[in-house]
Formats: sequence, structure tokens, C-alpha cells
Amino acid sequence: MTSTSMRTHQCGELRPEHIGQQVTLTGWVATRREHGEKLAFIDVRDHTGVTQAVVDNTVDVRSEYVVRVTGTVAARPTENLNEKLATGGIELQDCTVDILNVAEAPPFPVSERADQVAENTRLQYRFIDIRRERMQRNLRLRAAINSAIRTSMEDQGFVEVETPMLVPSTPEGAREFIVPSRQQPGSFYALPQSPQLFKQLLMVAGIDRYYQIARCLRDEDLRADRQYEFMQLDAEMSFVDQLDVHEAIGACVVAAAKAAGQDPGEIIKITWHEAMNRFGSDKPDLRFGMELTELTDVFAATEFKAFAGAATIKGINAAGKADDYGRNKLDGMTDKAKKMGAKGLVWLKVAADGTLESPVAKFLGEAEQAALKSALSAQPGDLLLIVADEWATTCEVLGTLRNDIGRPPVYEGPYRYLWVIDFPMFVGVDAVSGHPIPAHHPFTRPHPDDLHLLETDPMNVRSQAYDLVLNGWELGSGSIRIHEHELQARIFTILGISDEEAQKKFGFFLNPFRYGAPPHGGFAFGIDRLVAVLAGEENIREIIAFPKTQSGMDPMTNAPTPVVQKQLDELGIRVLPPKA
Ligand code: AMO
Ligand code: AMP
Repeated sequence: MTSTSMRTHQCGELRPEHIGQQVTLTGWVATRREHGEKLAFIDVRDHTGVTQAVVDNTVDVRSEYVVRVTGTVAARPTENLNEKLATGGIELQDCTVDILNVAEAPPFPVSERADQVAENTRLQYRFIDIRRERMQRNLRLRAAINSAIRTSMEDQGFVEVETPMLVPSTPEGAREFIVPSRQQPGSFYALPQSPQLFKQLLMVAGIDRYYQIARCLRDEDLRADRQYEFMQLDAEMSFVDQLDVHEAIGACVVAAAKAAGQDPGEIIKITWHEAMNRFGSDKPDLRFGMELTELTDVFAATEFKAFAGAATIKGINAAGKADDYGRNKLDGMTDKAKKMGAKGLVWLKVAADGTLESPVAKFLGEAEQAALKSALSAQPGDLLLIVADEWATTCEVLGTLRNDIGRPPVYEGPYRYLWVIDFPMFVGVDAVSGHPIPAHHPFTRPHPDDLHLLETDPMNVRSQAYDLVLNGWELGSGSIRIHEHELQARIFTILGISDEEAQKKFGFFLNPFRYGAPPHGGFAFGIDRLVAVLAGEENIREIIAFPKTQSGMDPMTNAPTPVVQKQLDELGIRVLPPKA
């Protein structure tokens, strides 16, 4: 299948059953070793593996030369058998070697040792880095996952529609990349943060089920799970409720995981409130316990002033961790809690005899201490952490400490997928305008049971937005959308957006909704994040062929680069000197 006019087999393919055949391999010289006075061994490599060829000592090849070797498959002498290698039972003998191209010495060896090389060097020479097994495996896994995603979506009746890359600015939250217009100097396109508005218009247009493996662009600070450009499995469906969306996307994620040889099992669902209450996070990592425990009742009558009268008191038990956390680390944790808005952090260590050791132990009554130990199932050697504050602060601070203490690397099994549902509609109130701030985009549909609270108690309105979470990473999010003009106008009023402003900002999107928009909803998950976890990688750069560095550079192409004055003149752009 993979033979070509230049080769009969690939380098990882030959086995003892091929002994006696004459074959031709093509590839790169991985190593060359002298063998006695007359002979040399060369290992020829392609992405499928390596094969050892016994060649005449006069063959002058060096590492990474491109060669074509014709020879006879022979059993290796017993002393040369290599069980670790799939081709370790055979070698090529009586070889002729064509040098198809010479190569300069590579900047780092094409082996897994290159993992130790500075990432900038790996990215500068990405074409060599990708010759390595790890990168080959990751990129091929990515392709298999993309293929499984397409098949699953198409089997479910989704139609692939491509949406434009040059779009107007859209209200999705992240900073946009903008592209100057030559024909209309002073006007700009934006690169899409996602196909959001177009996919909703495709529902108005009667496409019914849309999907796209879509490139999205956001000018955000880069991190292990973020690039400027990334890929989404983007989907939208008409005449559905959220269960339909969960089912369709869930099937697609299961297909993707299976393509990576894993079965995610059931994708469980928990509400946002439960996720915050139990795990202190809207993307809870379910692989470990250390759940947040309610202690408000334990300290209902306390005389300890830090706890007295607090709205919510919760604690976590870092079991067996007392000895791992000395004074410095505990002070660091307390600082972190304070930076997140907590008034402080109480820590207590459970001594061998069961007594609680802590600077604040003396403020806690005996009965309180006993009730605390019982609530947290405290055992000698445990470290207990307690925060007393508003509900949200208490949960968020303990959730962060829980992750800091207990969270394994994202790619470590078991894989725990879950839907987080019933997100709040608004995340807070704008300090200046006094209007609520939407948690998602302003086209997210409120929960039907909470519609009556929109004006009177907006902070307690749930939305029909949901996230898919894997091992503490947000894989994707989506929502059921608003399809009626009146409800959309009502939301804009609550957000303090005037009709005029709404028309100006998203008239192109809102007006079509007057022409018969069906009920609809959708979802998008980050393919890079999913592939990274399934590939066992902690950084999405490892599963992207040509990623940007943390500072947004491509060391191979040197992008971004200045452009010539003529280009700027055509666009009517004058570049100011950099700020001092
Ligand atoms: P959202 O903005 O939550 O939703 O994005 C969906 C998913 O895309 C991935 N993602 C990223 N991956 C890598 N680098 C980035 N910079 C980056 N930003 C986002 C994440 C994220 O969960 N249009 C809505 C979806 C919808 O409502 O249908 C959207 O884009 O995995
Ligand atoms: P203070 O009385 O402010 O000196 O605090 C005494 C101890 O209680 C310190 O270790 C604080 O970090 C901790 N502390 C203070 N306020 C809180 C709170 N709201 N929740 C948890 N710990 C707190």
C-alpha cells in the first residue's frame, strides 16, 4: 500500500517472514557504525521505524542523509538480535546504497533525547523535530482524531459548512486580531474568534445541523492550553434542547477518544452550583477526592473572630500531607488565598495523638475541634485547610488550593469527562454602570424556570449554557440560544445595551432573527486540548505542527515580522515608534 516507484517497503515493516526477499527502502540515515574492516551498519529510518542495513565500509553516509537502500532480507546473527525493535530479527544484506540527498549535521539528534533541547531550538528546526517518534505519533493521532470527529458528525447528519475568515468584530470576549482593508482604508476585518454568529445564521437558513473543524483566532496571553490559533469542533443544531446537544457532542467525543484507543465511559453531568460547592471549580477534576466540606454549622457558635458570622465556612482535608507542608509553603498558600480575595486561611495539622496543631488551635473550643475532625474525617498526619467568607470566595479559594495540592498532570488517567450544566446567566455587576455582566455571550438562553427573575433577581438566573470538562481542563462550551427578538431585546435592556447600540454592533446578526429563526443551540470543543490529553501531553504545543512560543513568536519563520513601507502605504497605515 505504501510502496512507491522508489521503494518496495517502509522501514518499520520487515519481519522474519520477509527473509529471502529483495527489497528497497527509502529514508534517513539514523546511525552509521563500523563493523569490522570491510563492513558498516546503517540504520535507515522513516516514520514507521528503522531497519538495519549491512553495507560496504566505503559507503560514505552521515546522519540524516537521504538514502535508498536495496538489499536482501536476512535473519540477523543470534548475537545481533534486538528484541526491543520490531525489525530486530532481520537486517538487509548485499546492499546497494543510493544517496538521494546529503544533509548538514542536525542541530540536535533525531531521538527522544531531543526532549531535553530548548523548546525554541525545537521550534526553530521544527522540520527536524517532527522527524522524531513523539511528534510523528502526536500528529498522526491528531489526524486520526480529526477523521473520527468528521465521521461521527457526518453519521449524525451534520453538514460541513465553511464560514469566512475575514469577518466583522464580534462580541465574544477575547481580544481580536484585526486585518486592515486596502479598498477601504481605515476599516478593518477581524479574524474570527469562532464561527458563532455565522453558525447561528446557518440555523436561520435551514441548514438544521452544521459542523466545521474551524480555525479560531484570539489575541490572548498564551499558556499551556492556549494558542493564538486553535481548532474547534464547532457545531449547531436546530429544534433541540440541551440534552440533544449533549448527546450529539458526547457521541463525537467518545468517537474521538476511541480513535486514541480509549473509552471515556459515561460522561456524567453536574450542575455548576454543585461543581463549585464540592470542588470549588467550574471545571472540576474528578480524578481525586479532597472535596470541599461544609463547616458552617461546626462553627455556628464559635468565638474565633475570623469565623464568627461568616456566610460560608468550608474546609478540605489534604490527607497525609501534614509533613509535606512546612511553614514557608503554608505562608505561600495563605498569601495566595488572600490574593484571591479571602481574608485569610486557617491551617491545622493533625498530630500523632490526634491533637490539632495550628497557631489558631487555641481559639477553637474542644467540642469544635472534635466536630471539625469528625466532619473532615481527620487522621494523624492530615493537613486541614479552612476558609470563611462569602460562598463564592470560599469555594474558589479552596478549589484552587485543592488543585494545587492534589491535581495530577492533565494527561494522567483515569479520564473523567463531565458536563457542567446550569451555569449562572450573569457573573457579577459592572462597578460603573451597575448592569449585570453576562457569563457567556449575550445570545445565551436563560433557564426556562428562571425567566421571571431576569429583572428582579438577575444574579440568581441560571442560563442554558454548559461546558464539557476533562481532568480539570475546559474542553468546550455551548448553549441553547435566544431565537426570539423580544427575549433578546429584554436581555439587552438588562445588560444596559440600547436598541441603537445593539443595532450598530450586531444588527447584521439580530435582524435575520426577524425572518423565522428556529429554536437552536450548539457547542464547540477545543480539538487541540482534547488531542493533547489523549496524546498524554501537558502542552498543546506538542500536538501542533507549527505552534507559536509563549511570547507569540514562530522561531522558524520569525513571524511576526515588519512589512515594507509600500504595503503600509497601500493600507494607509503609519506605524508609531515603540513606546519607551
Ligand atoms: P469558547 O470560547 O468557550 O466557546 O471556546 C470553545 C473551546 O475552544 C477552546 N479554546 C482554545 N483552545 C486553544 N487555545 C485558545 N486560545 C482557545 N480558546 C478557546 C477551548 C474552549 O473550551 N462559540 C462558542 C461555542 C458555542 O457557544 O457554541 C465558543 O467559542 O477548548
Ligand atoms: P487574624 O485574626 O486576622 O490575625 O487571623 C488569624 C488567622 O486566621 C490567620 O491565620 C488568618 O490567615 C486566618 N483567617 C483570618 N480570616 C480568615 C477567614 N475569613 N477564613 C479563614 N481564615 C482566616
